[in-house]
Amino acid sequence: MAPRNRLIIVANRLPVNRVKRKGRMVWETSPGGLVSALKPLVTEAGGSWVGWSGSPGKAPPAFEHENIQVRPVSVTAEQVEKFYAGFSNATLWPLYHDCVRTPQFHRRWWWPYVDVNRQFAEATAAETKPGDTVWVHDYQLQLVPAMLREMVPDVKIGFFLHIPFPPLELFAQLPWRREILAGLMGADLVGFQTPQGAKNFAAACKRYSDARGGDTKLEHRGRTVVVKPFPISIDIEHMEETATSESVQARAVELRKDLASSRHGERKILLGVDRLDYTKGIEIRLRAYEELLRRGTHTVDDCVLVQVAVPSRESVGEYAELRAFVERLTGRINGEYGEAGRAAVHYLRRNLNFEELVAFYRAADVMLVTPLRDGMNLVAKEYVIAKTDDDRGGTLVLSEFAGAANELGAGSLLVNPHDVDGLAATMDVSLTLPEAEVDRRMGLLQRAVRKNDVFGWAGSFLEALRS
Ligand code: G6P
Repeated sequence: MAPRNRLIIVANRLPVNRVKRKGRMVWETSPGGLVSALKPLVTEAGGSWVGWSGSPGKAPPAFEHENIQVRPVSVTAEQVEKFYAGFSNATLWPLYHDCVRTPQFHRRWWWPYVDVNRQFAEATAAETKPGDTVWVHDYQLQLVPAMLREMVPDVKIGFFLHIPFPPLELFAQLPWRREILAGLMGADLVGFQTPQGAKNFAAACKRYSDARGGDTKLEHRGRTVVVKPFPISIDIEHMEETATSESVQARAVELRKDLASSRHGERKILLGVDRLDYTKGIEIRLRAYEELLRRGTHTVDDCVLVQVAVPSRESVGEYAELRAFVERLTGRINGEYGEAGRAAVHYLRRNLNFEELVAFYRAADVMLVTPLRDGMNLVAKEYVIAKTDDDRGGTLVLSEFAGAANELGAGSLLVNPHDVDGLAATMDVSLTLPEAEVDRRMGLLQRAVRKNDVFGWAGSFLEALRS
């Protein structure tokens, strides 16, 4: 007999990637804490994962991969352009990230967004039986909850938004604001990264629909919609195991030798790790570092910046522009302040494998997490857990506008990521903090991150949804 309470995950991305191994195309589990937290829950409860493979065209039939049912959804090349690159990533993404770039509102993108959401809802309905629990993820699929509720009776539907929900005044710009809110209110539980996101959503619902209620519970068309923050976290145990493995420790030592040795003793390593996205504040961070070197209190003899930039959404114009800008700036800083054999900035535009990434965290003295707006930012939490007692310690410089600042405000050096001079001054502080203060702050950060891992996050969301 099938277990009761099956769990269906619905997300734009599948938990697997199609990759070439030994000349053959195979499915491989995607990296990342979200997949590692949700996969075992689906395996345990029975059910499946509905998502897009990332390639345009007809999707392969459903298949099983490492004990979970995977149900790919077809997205045509035209839909990739209008639903994915267009409405999801050039309308909603900038709008929800405080309009740090101007959102584009095009009717020709809206209808493909509706169509693809319907395709996801239909594929999910085909997987769902009365009594099941469905958990829909993120801004690409905000219409799915209400569509699915029409298609299947007696299901629990949860929705979690991984990115910020914007303040009312910004959300109000969206020509389809009522449709998006009605879509989300099809869920029984709508979860956000921060209390502010939840508050913004409740306020928008009360303003642009007939929903009534407080910040945590809305009454809408005879149903109750619970609205609540669930700050996401990382797989702490996996990070600890990786960070303390011999190979990663050895690699961290090697990285320090390559990057930190200088004729005047050791240089301090400042590190940035981001998707190459304009919300991450990479260009302002680089300008602040340039300002730090210009002031002359630090030189390439005592510090070096490593910026890892993971290629992302390259078909969207703003992303291509950002890349060109960051690369020009990197060249300018190295030209002005680098020395033969000692670059000021090491720019690595690539996807690092997890072990290499963790070795960089271990090697870095200062982690720069300075997004202009970010739902949570798990790099900050990863860095904190990657640091162990036998490390040289580490300092986190964190944007006030990252969701993570709610939990990590006490131990980090908080910055306004728009303020070039302020950021340069904070970089200076981070490079000169006394060792005892570095340790004290890291202790606070580790205690804060350890309060909740990604398994706890998923468990508490599902518990709230099923109660
Ligand atoms: C953010 C979003 C995710 C998205 C990821 C990568 O974290 O919240 O929904 O999957 O970026 O972006 P991509 O466009 O490659 O899926």
